[in-house]
Amino acid sequence: MLFSGTSRTIESYLLDLSHCTEFRERNGVTRRLYTAAWKQAQSLILDWMCEANLDPWIDAVGNVHGRVEGFSDQTILTGSHLDTVVDGGAYDGAYGIIAGIMALGEIKSRQIPLSRSLEVVALCEEEGSRFPMTCWGSRALLGKISREDLALQDAEGVSVSEAMQSCGLSPHEIDWTPSYHYRGFVELHIEQASQLESAHCPIGVVNTIFGQERWNVTVIGESVHAGTSRIVNRHDALVAASEMVLSVYRLAQQYEDKAIGTVGLLQVQNGTSNCVPGHVNFTVDLRAQNDALRESLASELQSMFTECGRRYGVEIVVDPYTSVNAVSMNVELQNLIQKAAHSQRLNTLLLDSRAGHDAQILGTTIPTAMIFVPSYQGLSHHVNEFTKKEDLINGQNVLREVLERAANGMFS
Ligand code: GLV
Ligand code: MN
Ligand code: MN
Repeated sequence: MLFSGTSRTIESYLLDLSHCTEFRERNGVTRRLYTAAWKQAQSLILDWMCEANLDPWIDAVGNVHGRVEGFSDQTILTGSHLDTVVDGGAYDGAYGIIAGIMALGEIKSRQIPLSRSLEVVALCEEEGSRFPMTCWGSRALLGKISREDLALQDAEGVSVSEAMQSCGLSPHEIDWTPSYHYRGFVELHIEQASQLESAHCPIGVVNTIFGQERWNVTVIGESVHAGTSRIVNRHDALVAASEMVLSVYRLAQQYEDKAIGTVGLLQVQNGTSNCVPGHVNFTVDLRAQNDALRESLASELQSMFTECGRRYGVEIVVDPYTSVNAVSMNVELQNLIQKAAHSQRLNTLLLDSRAGHDAQILGTTIPTAMIFVPSYQGLSHHVNEFTKKEDLINGQNVLREVLERAANGMFS
């Protein structure tokens, strides 16, 4: 479908947004929060919302909102996130925003009367790819960010506060909260896994979003001469860290049906080829279908790390910096998605999401559901992330119908 008055396809919007990237010479899309590429994407979204007559505005943290007013201030919200991981794809987050703008643009142009208002939001950040925090945009909507977060720094030592100012935003205004009553949130997203593709099913209805937590781990040993130090006397931070990385991997293998763990980043500080590594940092990303399991795996891992530190004579500091609980989606909205899909002769599959989403944050307070469309080979956070045009359009049509039905009283 089209923004009113234009004849562009959803794919052409996705392509334009994918050109807003930090490293133009690379194939992947990198759009971290408050970078120039992010700012460029934010202006595109603002322009597109204007073209769709959605009267857009930018809030205190840089989320972009557009609305179609109904008779009441009760609002059904849709949207997704504008940021990406480093060298990510063109669909993660971007699809839910663009499809939301197109859906609202069409509803607006058809002048469909609405009991409740509809709103689409391009959330500024979800991935945690620049600062040690996640879901900054959706947490801001719920008033769940604090002034302390403004001091968090990226790898270059730039604070959230400084980065906001570089994008023309005022860190002093983050206490802002929206003036609308959000009655429901529906996020459309690519699946990022391969269940829909394997089942040849066009529409996924999310059941539970896995909980997740992330840690920064510091291993401090001693950097000494690589040729002259005896193995028995070493406090090798990298060898200890390597064992810890393997313990995360093995635990993930053991629990893979219900939990998963990953070390995605590992750095040797001041490492050189002829020194024993004395200081290593790495991250842990731990996810599980239920919070009790995640907590028990977290404590099992911490014990393994402590034991490993003792064996190698290194100090280990674990800093858990973000944690989001598992969230079940709203049953009434799930049913609405199923009805909308079936009315368009599209089959649905109920599935869990192991990827994290803004829906996980908003779902703690607002009745929330997610619509998934198939991902080619289940690839995501990857340059070859891809969804067929037909699937993109199916998802968008289902979203539009769900929004219309929810706005017009088919959802309590
Ligand atoms: C975000 O995409 C995540 O699952 O970490
Ligand atoms: Mn992602
Ligand atoms: Mn995403």
